[in-house]
Parts: sequence; C-alpha cells; structure tokens
Amino acid sequence: MKENSFILKGNICYSDTKDRFISVDQGYLVCCQGISQGVYSVLPEEYQNLPITDYGDHLIIPGMTDLHLHAPQYPFRGLGMDLELLDWLEAHTFPEESHYQDLEYAEKAYRIFTEDLKASATTRAVIFGTIHTPATILLMEKLEAAGLKTYVGRVNMDQNCTDLLKEKNADASLADTAEWLKKTVNQYQNTKPILTPRFAPTCSEPLLKGLGKLQKEYQVPVQSHLSENLSEIAWVKELFPWSSCYGDVYHQCGLFGGEAKTIMAHCVHSCDIEVEMMREKGVYVAHCPQSNINLSSGIAPIRRYLEEGIPVGLGSDIAGGANLSMFRHMADAIGVSKLYWRLVDQEKKPLTMEEVFYLATKGGGSFFGKAGSFEKGYELDALVMDDHGIHTTRDLNTKERLERYIYLAGEGGRIIGKYVAGVKI
Ligand code: GUN
Ligand code: FE
Repeated sequence: MKENSFILKGNICYSDTKDRFISVDQGYLVCCQGISQGVYSVLPEEYQNLPITDYGDHLIIPGMTDLHLHAPQYPFRGLGMDLELLDWLEAHTFPEESHYQDLEYAEKAYRIFTEDLKASATTRAVIFGTIHTPATILLMEKLEAAGLKTYVGRVNMDQNCTDLLKEKNADASLADTAEWLKKTVNQYQNTKPILTPRFAPTCSEPLLKGLGKLQKEYQVPVQSHLSENLSEIAWVKELFPWSSCYGDVYHQCGLFGGEAKTIMAHCVHSCDIEVEMMREKGVYVAHCPQSNINLSSGIAPIRRYLEEGIPVGLGSDIAGGANLSMFRHMADAIGVSKLYWRLVDQEKKPLTMEEVFYLATKGGGSFFGKAGSFEKGYELDALVMDDHGIHTTRDLNTKERLERYIYLAGEGGRIIGKYVAGVKI
C-alpha cells in the first residue's frame, strides 16, 4: 500500500473560494501520498482498496494556518495587556525575549510552546523567534520533530531597543543571519527559515538593505510588522523621512513582496499608497484581531483588503493575542469587523463565518502553496473535531455545528485527530 494513502470518513467541511463553503455529510476524504484526491459522497471505485478511518458523526475540516506568532512570547501570554504596543514591547516583550540567550531557558520554553501548538488546531504556522541563533535553531528542531509545517525567523534588530537584544551592528546581524540561513535553508523537511526584520523602528537602513540582498541570494520569504499602531507609524516617518509610507521602507530595501514572498502583520492603519503597494506586490496581511484589541491598536480594514484582492490570513500574534486557538481568532475577526462596520465605515460589511473559515484555512494556508483546502491536489492537513461536549438541545446541521465550534471550542470541543500533509501527528 502506498505511504500516507487513506480515506477519512465523517462530516466534512472546506472552502474553495472565500464565498464558497462546501460541506459533505458522511463524506469520504481521499488522501494519496499526502495529497487530497477530493471529497466524495460516494466512494469512487478506484479508491476502494485504501484503508478507511470512519470518524462517525465527527466534523472533519482542513488544518488551520497561524500566519503570525512569536514563540518566545508564549511564557507571558495573558499578562501585561494594559499597555499599547511601544510601551508593551519595552515593559514585557523585550525583557522576556532576552532570556533566550540562555539555551536551558529556551529548551524549557520552546518545549512547552511546541507541545501546545501541536495539540492546537494549527497545522501550519509562520513564527518569530529571537535574535539568538542557537535558540532559534532549537525551536526549528522541535517544530520539525512535532511534524507541523512552519516557517521560523531569527529576528534582526540593531537599534532602538534594550542593549540585551540589540545586535552589535548591521554587519554583525547580517553575518549571523547568513550563517543561520546556511545551516537551516535545506536542513529540514517541515521547517523552513524566513527573514525576520522585527519592524522598521528596530532596524537600521543598512541592515534592511543587507537583508534584501540575503533574500535574493537565498530565495527565502520575509515577515515583519506593518502599520500596527499610530505612534509606531509616526516614529517610522521620523526614522525614515525619505519613505512615502511605512511599507515603502521595506519596499525600498527589497523586503516587500514581488520576488520576495512576504507577510506583514497587522496593517491596521495602512494608508492608500501602502495598500496599493501591498496589492501590487502580493504582500500577505496577517490579520491579528485579538492582538489589535489587547494592545488597543485598532481595527484592520479586512473587508477592503479582500475586495482589493490582497491575500489575507489570520494570526494569533502570541503574546499580543493571548491564546493559540485559531477558533478564537476567527470569532474575534468577525467581532471586530462588525465594530468596523458600525463605527468606522458602513460600506464595509462585516466578515461572515464562511469568510473567516476561509481565512483561517485556505487564505493563510496558501502562503505554503496548496494547503488549507480539501480540493484535489492540496496537501492534506485535516482536523477531526468532536463537538459533543458543547451541549445543546437543538438538532444542528453540519455547518451550524462548525459555527458553534468556532465560538465555543473552549467549552468542550475536542480535536481527536490531526493530520499534516497526510501524516497523522
Ligand atoms: N512590533 C514589533 N515587535 C512586535 C511584537 O513583538 N509584537 C507585536 N504585536 N508587534 C510588534
Ligand atoms: Fe507580532
């Protein structure tokens, strides 16, 4: 029998476009060598010999992608949520991240992080580490062993931060990054490196330009933060007076889409020039609604980004967001979009349950290629979910059960099976 070839049976849901939610009750999801062959209500003859796992009445959905989170911030999730971004970085984030100089600490913290991520609904993630190469490699090894598909970034920062996290200068930061890339670029099956300038304020121009060169040389993707907070945007204007907007700083340095596949987290306050640049360059927006609430950042105009064809996925932004549950981030994405519609722009109608389901699965998954859907040809990431612990007197259809799972996962929802690229983990 072919490896990673099997059939999952159950109540199956997935999207092919953001407006098309598909559900097949008691359907057959066929996987051949890790790749989906589609979903069928009657099993085609050619697949009759594959082994079937019958999950009965349970829900089966694609794995979720967390497009933006900080592994080293996991220890202080849920703490220090009384500050805005720049003060929160100084007071909570930088002190925690400085601990990852100590590999023993990193071992403990990254073990907890990886175990919890493995147990969550996330099958793929794009992750910030710290400036510390050994700790970042340790994180990559743990994620590789967990079987999750991830991009992991060794962070660059050479100015405007505590001395404990400030790299000596741009040249030293670039040399260390090149060393790290050499060690990791073809090292793993599941884990890949991604260039990670923390954000423009903590990166000098020579550092950003040097990272742009490394991007070309190693053909690796890029992640950073963009237009999250109003004070941050004003600061970028002061630091880089030649830029037409915040995003232009990255753009002028070769770190903003096009050949350099890029994720920018937040984009809460992007101006028209920046939005146009994102669209033209195919820059992904990692929408992190819970973080934007916790750090009082604002509400990102996701409806606009979708209308303009900008690729969007969801991010937890741990520890700006307090938890890993992508279900919670889906519910928050709907919630903040309603406030945006009510308070900011009545032309921008709220996101629907189908749309956020798409964002959490195929929207973010597309950063990895064909992932996040059960359409034929997609890498098969699947979650099997038991919702019997979420009590009700009602007789619900499959879509209603999924909707309730999104809102009430923490009340008794259980993930009882998790597959990544056709491998049960
Ligand atoms: N901008 C720069 N660094 C960070 C970070 O760690 N978290 C968030 N939310 N925004 C940032
Ligand atoms: Fe972040």
